[in-house]
Amino acid sequence: MAESLTIRRPDDWHVHLRDGAMLAGVAHYTARQFARAIVMPNLSPPVTTTASARDYRARIVDALPAGTAFEPLMTAYLTDHTDPADLARGKAEGVLTAAKLYPANATTNSAAGVSDIARLDRVLGAMEEAGLVLCVHGEVTDADVDVFDREAVFIERHLARMVERFPGLKVVFEHVTTAEGVAFVEGAGANVAGTITPQHLHLNRNAMLVGGIRPHAYCLPVAKRERHRLALRRAVTSGSGKFFLGTDSAPHARADKESACGCAGIFNAPFALESYAAVFDQENALDRFEQFASLAGPAFYGLPVNEGTITLERGGPAVPDTLDAGGTTVVPFHAGETLTWRLASG
Ligand code: DOR
Ligand code: ZN
Repeated sequence: MAESLTIRRPDDWHVHLRDGAMLAGVAHYTARQFARAIVMPNLSPPVTTTASARDYRARIVDALPAGTAFEPLMTAYLTDHTDPADLARGKAEGVLTAAKLYPANATTNSAAGVSDIARLDRVLGAMEEAGLVLCVHGEVTDADVDVFDREAVFIERHLARMVERFPGLKVVFEHVTTAEGVAFVEGAGANVAGTITPQHLHLNRNAMLVGGIRPHAYCLPVAKRERHRLALRRAVTSGSGKFFLGTDSAPHARADKESACGCAGIFNAPFALESYAAVFDQENALDRFEQFASLAGPAFYGLPVNEGTITLERGGPAVPDTLDAGGTTVVPFHAGETLTWRLASG
């Protein structure tokens, strides 16, 4: 039984770092574990242009101790009014790595998202041309679609068509939560990949609803049935280059989650690698962890693999019940548990 695991330094291909005091309180957790991260643009107001992504990138760098080796990879939030030329410029100038499609009102701070995906063709064409990656929150928002079906219906109604119409567009189907999502990514061309979060590998919907409503297990897309969780576990441990690490770490104040209308989001940044490593260990697939965490993402995005390594050691950290994030109390994923792997310091 391996007692330690050394892999190339990994990246987080989907994270919410927030802004202001919260940014200063959480960014160091991500920078400790990852060399780079795709930073989500759903601030309030959202990061919709190259100029605002450039400013946000500077705020992230400023929020970290000087000399921290961490590269934020920026995204622009697509709206009904996105200027395709601005996206192309953002890519050419090295500011933007991707653009993010939130169907309007699908999740936190997505009210300004895209109201009619069919009208996005000009933008998607420009992104295909410029080589800008499209990150997709793949859920429909139609009131008549059950929340547990929203991902599968999104594939049928939108994603399949987008991928067919723009065969040269690189698409990341983010935080895949269903067997249908896994099958779609597996069946698509090399230009389509998916990220998978630690929480969707650990939790099914019972974790959220049995024995009382557990707001700290609530995120969007919501955790699904057990068979979906098992499909996700198979996907991440398959060794396929089509699935890679994206935590979707999304901090909210404890009080905003433990509320009559609790916010969606799980703050997993402090122990993300430990959380994923536990899954790979349980699946007897630690030899595939580097592919998922450190190699598949850069290959898809066309970026170099990171220099340097990290080491995980058996025997886990005790996860605190709460943490302070810039003056706000937040509850981390796995609060109160002892994990089975820890990230060695240095
Ligand atoms: O659970 C989520 N929280 N899902 C999202 O898509 C957004 C995120 C957030 O920003 O809080
Ligand atoms: Zn997210």
